[in-house]
Amino acid sequence: MVKKQRVRKKKAEESYCLGIESTADDFSVGVSTFKGEILANIRSSYVPAEGGIHPREAARHHSEQASTVLREALGKAALKPADLSIIAFSQGPGLGPCLRTGATVARALASYLDIPLVGVNHCIAHIEIGKLKTEAIDPITLYVSGGNTIVAAFDAGRYRVFGETLDIALGNCLDVFAREACLRQKQGMPLGALVEKLAAKGTRLLELPYAVKGMDVSMSGLLTTAVTLLKKGKCRLEDLCYSLQETAFSMVTEISERGLAHTEKKEVLLTGGVAANRRLQAMIEEIAREHDARFCVVPSEFAVDNGAMIAWTGVLAYTHDIVTPINQSHVKLRWRLDEVEVPWIG
Ligand code: ATP
Ligand code: FE2
Repeated sequence: MVKKQRVRKKKAEESYCLGIESTADDFSVGVSTFKGEILANIRSSYVPAEGGIHPREAARHHSEQASTVLREALGKAALKPADLSIIAFSQGPGLGPCLRTGATVARALASYLDIPLVGVNHCIAHIEIGKLKTEAIDPITLYVSGGNTIVAAFDAGRYRVFGETLDIALGNCLDVFAREACLRQKQGMPLGALVEKLAAKGTRLLELPYAVKGMDVSMSGLLTTAVTLLKKGKCRLEDLCYSLQETAFSMVTEISERGLAHTEKKEVLLTGGVAANRRLQAMIEEIAREHDARFCVVPSEFAVDNGAMIAWTGVLAYTHDIVTPINQSHVKLRWRLDEVEVPWIG
């Protein structure tokens, strides 16, 4: 009895943000306290029957799963909707139908509960959850996922992009190759992780196009060559996966190292879905060591898209006076991270 009362009292003093993530194939809801304790992080992934993500079908999955995921997240956090202080949502960048589904759920909840709404930039959320979980303060970040390949660091009020992909993202490159090789997503294992498993058995490094242009990278030539070799059927799939990883990862490592040398930051953060890859972690760890910087990698639960990162970034924004009125809550499909003011840093 006494214990119950204590729990209730503690909760009354605490503030909570519920975050909704729906930019692409995942619908996820997370709950964070205003102090950065993650109380829940529940995800439901849309897996296409074949091929890549179909935005409208992913959006349908999100609207069908929304109430279940919400209920599960609140249950895990042991909160009632009325306990929430704010609602945060991924406002962009991402796929239109998917973003709109999450935004609609967020608007409905915030209006019904009569609490503030906070639109969050998805890319910044990947960085902020990495910082929260690794206690990094001012890192240079390599953010690599299905839709993004970015080297960024904070400077004068914003995150600045030091380097990025000129065409496809690293995760997308791995995913397309995996699909061409007929690898199937199973037991929730991402395609990139399947490539990683095969790559670990590779022994021969095949020559593939390596394209670093100044601070940027280009992945499409590499992908085309890897797929062409695959179709010829003369190379072992393990060697192709190994060579694709080695080449692509060396490219992003090179621009990260250049960004690190230029900014002289003392921490290197690896975040986004591809951050779960052990080989990439090892490469980035090595450049961090060479430059006397601390290597920080986001834990895998928070590497792929998740509601917790949106909830936490919502807290950072809201506690620095950022709210999103309903009439300004339209989704932003191409919202770059360097367009966003980040008053919570510096
Ligand atoms: P964004 O909008 O940030 O680009 P996204 O939809 O791509 O988001 P994330 O969940 O951040 O989502 O990243 C998913 C990507 O991560 C996929 O390309 C997936 O294959 C890749 N990935 C996940 N695990 C691994 C791994 N172990 N090795 C390589 N790639 C991985
Ligand atoms: Fe993402």
